[in-house]
Amino acid sequence: MRDGWIRWPANVAGRFGGEPVAFGGDYNPEQWDESVWPEDARLMREAGVNLVTVGVFAWSALQPGPDRWDFGWLDRVLDLLHANDIAVDLATATASPPPWLTTRFPEVLPVDRDGRTMSQGGRQAWSPSSQVFREHSLALVEKLAARYGGHPALALWHVSNELGGHNSRCYGEASAVAFRGWLRERYGDSLDALNAAWATRVWSQSYSAWEEIQPPRLTFTDSNPTQVLDFDRFSSDQLREQLRAESAVLRRHTPDVPITTNMVLFDAGKNMNYSSWAGDMDLVSSDHYLRPAPDADAELSFSADRARGLATGSPWLLMETATGATSWRPVNPAKRPGQLRRDVFAHVARGADGICFFQWRAGQAGPERFHSAMLPHAGAGSRKFHEVKALGADLAACAEVLGSRTAADCALLFGEEAWWAADRESHPHNGLSYADTALRWYRSLRDAGLTVDVVPPSADLSRYRLIVAPMLYLVSDEDAGALAAAAEAGATVLVTYFSGIVDPLDRVRLGGYPGAFRDLLGVRVEEFAPLLDAETVEIKGVTGPGRVSTWHEQIDLTDAVAEATYAGGDFAGLPAVTRAARGSGEAWYVGGELESEARAALLAALVERSGATAVPHRPGLDAVIRRAADRDYLFLINHGADDAVVAGSGTDLLDGSVHEDEIVVPAGGVRVVASARGATAGA
Ligand code: GAL
Repeated sequence: MRDGWIRWPANVAGRFGGEPVAFGGDYNPEQWDESVWPEDARLMREAGVNLVTVGVFAWSALQPGPDRWDFGWLDRVLDLLHANDIAVDLATATASPPPWLTTRFPEVLPVDRDGRTMSQGGRQAWSPSSQVFREHSLALVEKLAARYGGHPALALWHVSNELGGHNSRCYGEASAVAFRGWLRERYGDSLDALNAAWATRVWSQSYSAWEEIQPPRLTFTDSNPTQVLDFDRFSSDQLREQLRAESAVLRRHTPDVPITTNMVLFDAGKNMNYSSWAGDMDLVSSDHYLRPAPDADAELSFSADRARGLATGSPWLLMETATGATSWRPVNPAKRPGQLRRDVFAHVARGADGICFFQWRAGQAGPERFHSAMLPHAGAGSRKFHEVKALGADLAACAEVLGSRTAADCALLFGEEAWWAADRESHPHNGLSYADTALRWYRSLRDAGLTVDVVPPSADLSRYRLIVAPMLYLVSDEDAGALAAAAEAGATVLVTYFSGIVDPLDRVRLGGYPGAFRDLLGVRVEEFAPLLDAETVEIKGVTGPGRVSTWHEQIDLTDAVAEATYAGGDFAGLPAVTRAARGSGEAWYVGGELESEARAALLAALVERSGATAVPHRPGLDAVIRRAADRDYLFLINHGADDAVVAGSGTDLLDGSVHEDEIVVPAGGVRVVASARGATAGA
């Protein structure tokens, strides 16, 4: 067992020999005739598969009726996999309830904000607040843990699946009751405290009894923002309760088998406060499906860097990705030649010690029948299966990177509560997007050659030289204080507009903006001046001659200096970007939405001033270093159409080539160059 890597149970670790990178995918044998299974096992071996996730949507197959259980098929699947040296990430199968459960107990079904009850026929048709669901799901987990806890193939428990992916917000009666209970606890059973926290004097909302409180259901107008924020917190906590309840059963049976649940770290993962869940898992795992966008690899990298951030730097597992197209977007593009390999290694570079896919064998039926898989409809003779086999071999060749750490001394703060609150209605500019703003800054940091840890604002910031906090609208006093302390201690901190505006109750911090960061930044703003769609304003200074759009504001300097100023508009001559010296570090503020060239120019200055480690950037070349005790692994992923040449030396783990002084990365190619520690510094 390596520090930070999966605690494989002894039976699996022994058999794994050589600790290969985990490689495999979701395996749904219950959707196929049993005669297909031997071929599955044979082809898995051929592809180098060593870990599969079994049983994710198998509840109705395992428990066909209230008092009927059928484990025979799963016994045979696990035995077959074990006989083929394939370890199992066993799902608790609670992701989707069987129709008999929701028919007998319709209160299990979730209700959306419009009051519509979601029906059977899709998946995740359960309310996270349903006690009936909780009891029945735990009974299933109990049975599975008792039956398979000692099975030699069992390597990892997979709680539910993408908890909250569809059903994170339920507005039904069960949720209303549970929400009131959660609030009573949060506000010390005091309605006065709740009324004060929610500012219920506004719009005549003061509550006189707990029963009057509802989830934030449909209203004519904007809703009470604190009520909605508390409902967000409650909803995420309810899902975490499911994770904890299932985990408690599993731990009782198998204290030595690690537990995970797969998370979605961008777009669809917004509703979950994952940084408050990560501590409940033995291993962080995430799912990633590429956005069909020209620079999709930026979001891929962001999600991977966030997975590592949630794992506090330890290696993590990519639980699901696609070998090609998804099936749930309006248009589902295939991957381009070589892209599968590039995407996979972009994850490995950022700390993934295992790569798994949805799914092993492409479905013949069901809503996901057109989703790509490791083994496509075309079968084992296909180009895709060939590519998958080659990937298995590539990953096996990289086994020595396991347990090494991705090196980053730059952090981007990304907070779930800030995300929820910043994107809410009734704001000065209602076209702002927290995640897209973070992604824009992330992209620019990456283009500046930095490897970035995407971490929650509560993370330990002590090892970062450069810390960027984009649009951290909601922040607690503690987290704001930690950022200020990091600057004092020598970090270069950058805060962007609409940050520090409200406290954790979404109440405006008085005395001038940006409230929580006013002292840190040495600036004071009295009024926001958002810009209309077509409006831009010129700036000049450290940003170079450039423009801002979407947002600007009049910044009064307290003890900061202007590093860029407006060159036109109402604030001509006044600061747009500022800097304040703080202890042995400094704090920068950006008061408008910079276009990308201006962001790049500013970051170039900050990289230099902060001393953050940057590799000289070449467009389209992703360069990331993982470090082990005595070795460096330089991952070079060339997304471009031309060969790239970088300084460096070492041996490529993928093709065994030896490089002295310079490394050529072929167009569209990948290299993982191992060298003695420190030798990659000039890359
Ligand atoms: C994930 C889900 C999988 C599968 C996959 C398809 O969100 O966990 O079960 O549906 O998407 O892309």
